[in-house]
Amino acid sequence: MCSSSLLTVVLLGLTLAHTGVEVNAGPPLKILGLFPHPGVSHFHFFHPIMRGLAEAGHDVSVVSHFPDKHPAVHYKDYPLTGIDKLTNSVDLKVFEKRTFYSHFQEFFLLYDWGRQACNFTLRSDALQQILKRRQGYFDVIIMEQFNTDCMMGVAHQLHAPVIALSSCVMMPWHYERMGAPIIPSHIPNLFMAQSQDMDFGGRLANWFSFHALNWMYKLLSVPAADKMVQYKFGHMVPSVGELAKNTSLFFVNQHYSLSGPKPLPPNVIELGGIHIQKSKPLPADLQRLLDNAEHGVILISWGSMIRANSLSAAKRDGIVRAAARLKQQVIWKWENETLPNQPANMHIMKWLPQRDILCHPNVKVFMSHGGLMGTSEAAYCGVPVVATPMYGDQFVNTAALVQRGMATILNYEEIGENSVIRALKKALDKKYYDAAKAVSQSYNHRPQQALQTALWWVEHVAHTGGAPLLQPSAVHMSRFVYYSLDCYAVVALILAIIIGSWLALIRRCCGSKSSAKPKRD
Ligand SMILES: *[C@@H]1O[C@H](CO)[C@@H](O)[C@H](O)[C@H]1NC(C)=O
Ligand SMILES: *[C@@H]1O[C@H](CO)[C@@H](O)[C@H](O)[C@H]1NC(C)=O
Ligand SMILES: *[C@@H]1O[C@H](CO)[C@@H](O)[C@H](O)[C@H]1NC(C)=O
Repeated sequence: MCSSSLLTVVLLGLTLAHTGVEVNAGPPLKILGLFPHPGVSHFHFFHPIMRGLAEAGHDVSVVSHFPDKHPAVHYKDYPLTGIDKLTNSVDLKVFEKRTFYSHFQEFFLLYDWGRQACNFTLRSDALQQILKRRQGYFDVIIMEQFNTDCMMGVAHQLHAPVIALSSCVMMPWHYERMGAPIIPSHIPNLFMAQSQDMDFGGRLANWFSFHALNWMYKLLSVPAADKMVQYKFGHMVPSVGELAKNTSLFFVNQHYSLSGPKPLPPNVIELGGIHIQKSKPLPADLQRLLDNAEHGVILISWGSMIRANSLSAAKRDGIVRAAARLKQQVIWKWENETLPNQPANMHIMKWLPQRDILCHPNVKVFMSHGGLMGTSEAAYCGVPVVATPMYGDQFVNTAALVQRGMATILNYEEIGENSVIRALKKALDKKYYDAAKAVSQSYNHRPQQALQTALWWVEHVAHTGGAPLLQPSAVHMSRFVYYSLDCYAVVALILAIIIGSWLALIRRCCGSKSSAKPKRD
């Protein structure tokens, strides 16, 4: 009896190890995904989680701009259609000039995108279908928390616990709702080009913009979302700013080995690298190119959002001439059919299996824009990076790579033949290689694979009705109390009273002496 059940367990274990999917206790959960932001790079983080849940047997409904082309059995799409998807759509000319105010401008861009996505999603047919479900139908709602909390209004209608996903490192306004501390001395703001090591000027700027952006979010984005949510669901709906404090769990696409350790409460889970799939065989010609490159390969890819063929002719020629001087083979993700003056060692491709190329042992350097997906893949494969950050979180990702010693920066304005050669020569140094391998080692060796961690927590939140024990009371504190500023204030007051009375005493005794003088006359 005992041994036969043991055998069953062993067999079951073997089957599970084989499929790589953990069995879940109890009946399948009904899970809703709400992803109103139309950026495909974000969805690369969400999709593996939603798909993983479906493959583990749960019933998954997904509202997004990116329907799964080959959905798993329990994966049902509710596509948002008719809004511009932000794929291959960023024109590099926007980034020719960057100033100190750029990150505030970016905030307004995000604010605007957030309003549009909120308005669009609330009016969509996809959401109307979801809202036909009765309250409490879904066991858990998984949503992106990025530039708007609009979807918290939907979660409120559906009465289900919420798990938030962030495809980039946490935004300034994400900390408070999870009860996490904002410590600008060593936690760089996503909008800044800094790592955990900052000098005084950097810390001051970080402190200022951390708090400024947090307040701007509260004063602009929250009321904008409230207006649309209340227009849709009525004026009884609480502010999304309040509803956001009801977030049970926060999955964030970061990992300490890359972005630096941070003090995070247990309701914030780091899942960096979850999108990195098992390796797939490379196309034969690419495999041959990589295998036969005796001096190694340099990969240039600026992600899915930025069109390389909008590079100015001068910069493009600079890269081409630099490549011609190298003995390495160069692979460039280039969206045009042709590349003027293309040298023999340069190979252009409209699309490439970035992750599989990067992990090939002959790849020596990755020229990247510092997007989080590419950055994570470089960390995973252990490849030194020449980073050219352009907007959004790319600056903070790049700063983290540089702080870890595995990247050097090539500024966008400075792209030219000599600067490209200089940056590549630097990144080819063994120091960078060693640092990249060290990051790769801790990035890949975790107690549990990121996907398994995510599945475990989603089931935990569903089974405990929103994991109330996981919520710090800090969520409901004002920040004045949270940082003990009330205590500092009392201590300062007491000190002031003591010092003040001493001063008064001294003044009185000295004053009586001096006032005694005229009496003697
Ligand atoms: C939402 O979109 C509709 C039509 O698409 C438009 O008329 C309306 O002004 C928008 N509302 C806001 C608050 O942007
Ligand atoms: C807060 O979340 C719980 C589940 O975690 C849910 O039942 C409740 O309705 C939510 N509260 C609000 C005000 O939406
Ligand atoms: C890219 O191709 C388009 C048309 O296909 C052409 O107009 C444009 O000049 C090309 N750009 C470069 C840099 O080759």
